[in-house]
Amino acid sequence: MVGIVSRNDPCQQIQTIGIVYITVDTNWTLYLSKWAQTVPTSDRIPLYRDVASRVLAMIDAGTFAPGDRVPSVRALSRQLSVSISTVLEAYRLLESQRVVEARPQSGYFVRPRGPVPEIPARSKSGRRTVPIDSSDLILNITESATDPNLVALGSANPCLDYLPVARLNRFLGRVIREHPTLSHEYDSISGVEELRVMIARRMLEAGCSVSPDAIVTTAGATAAIQLCLRAVTKPGDTVAVESPTYYGLLEAIDALHLRAIEVATCPEEGIDLDELEKIVSRQRVAACALVPNHGNPLGHCMPDDKKRQLVELLNTHDIPLVEDDAYGDLPFGNERPRAVKAFDPDDRVLYCSSFSKTLAPGFRVGWAAPGRYLDRVKRLKFSSFIATPSCTQMAIAQYLEHGGFDRHLRSLRRTYRELMDRMIHVVGDVFPAGTRATRPAGGHVLWVELPEHVDSMLLREQAAQAGVSVLPGPVFSPTGRYRNFIRLNCALTWGPPIEHALQTLAHLAQQQ
Ligand SMILES: Cc1ncc(COP(=O)(O)O)c(C=O)c1O
Repeated sequence: MVGIVSRNDPCQQIQTIGIVYITVDTNWTLYLSKWAQTVPTSDRIPLYRDVASRVLAMIDAGTFAPGDRVPSVRALSRQLSVSISTVLEAYRLLESQRVVEARPQSGYFVRPRGPVPEIPARSKSGRRTVPIDSSDLILNITESATDPNLVALGSANPCLDYLPVARLNRFLGRVIREHPTLSHEYDSISGVEELRVMIARRMLEAGCSVSPDAIVTTAGATAAIQLCLRAVTKPGDTVAVESPTYYGLLEAIDALHLRAIEVATCPEEGIDLDELEKIVSRQRVAACALVPNHGNPLGHCMPDDKKRQLVELLNTHDIPLVEDDAYGDLPFGNERPRAVKAFDPDDRVLYCSSFSKTLAPGFRVGWAAPGRYLDRVKRLKFSSFIATPSCTQMAIAQYLEHGGFDRHLRSLRRTYRELMDRMIHVVGDVFPAGTRATRPAGGHVLWVELPEHVDSMLLREQAAQAGVSVLPGPVFSPTGRYRNFIRLNCALTWGPPIEHALQTLAHLAQQQ
């Protein structure tokens, strides 16, 4: 191929005469036969920057594609009549901008750029119900995911830098000063009334009109999910779940001696209703347990009309839904998605959520709005816990009333969106060809599909030895699917350690 590559100079300070290339083989080798006669007309731009922008222009024009080797330092220096050190400086600049990468003894290559390709297809339904593997696998894996000595790509804990720690501490201090005996007494079974009032107001944002008396506070969403599942099942029953799904749900199913059946799930719109209908028509399903808004790990968001259809389907078959809305307040857009409970005239949805992802995971403040199962959930809460600590509930109630929660949420959503975008690009940049990832509409986790041969369980072990935590795909499936998938946490303070950790993971995956 012979051609004039670049006539318009981005800097307007160089006169380009022409560049001619000859393709010698089908791979990528281009021989530079004649370089432009370039005459700097101003000394305002350092020469190495000019050289860099010429190389960049050629990459942008497609002369050098991702993976291609760019001209060698020596060749470029000769052709442009500039020193070797000027070319080296230009390539180092391009390297720092992640445009090219140096490969030992081979030269500089164009880096793959742009976001990682999207996972296009929905998963498949399971054929059978399964008891969850009750080994310590999930415990071991999740413990290492929160190991403070590892770079925490594996946990889904929000980074405290983005949460209102100081403000909440002030409210907590004030509660203790103003109510010195509060934390020493048992709370009521339903929970602190001030908090339930604030939660009822907030649930309006999710389209749910629920009275404070219909709310039970719990130790995080986890306790709410457990209580609600217990309220509607008995040991041996089957629960339908998304595939992949949050491993905490699978743990709750295991703890209650239930069985799970995986239902095909779309990475954008959530559970496949046709598949769910086939399953519930074929066999007895005692409950459904779903994360319809920004589910973990897919980040999907079920559209309103599907939520409505889901409720109709479950009502027809008299199946209660345990709805986990832990990420509902974290959409990337301006509009908070409605909960499935918003479309539930028969009160068959047991809604669960918490402030763990938005305010303070360590406060362990969550709640259930269990609809027609309220009394059963209250009895179970009493028999399991009697009550939950009041001071943290009260501090959150006061924060919700006076602390600027909406402002905080706006900023948190913006931050998570930016971090997610960056993660999607870096994964596209550094992970092996064939890697794909979701495009979450909210939340802060990214589901990444690695090339088929990569074993994420092995990758987790290797990464831990290299100082990085990551969650392997099989923990998100009751049948151990998703062997070549990992989940990455984006709610981190971005910086060189995170980039380095991602490069380590990518390198280990590449080696496999
Ligand atoms: C979907 C989902 N639900 C619930 C939880 C746990 O919430 P909590 O800390 O309030 O128990 C998590 C935590 O990662 C989650 O991802």
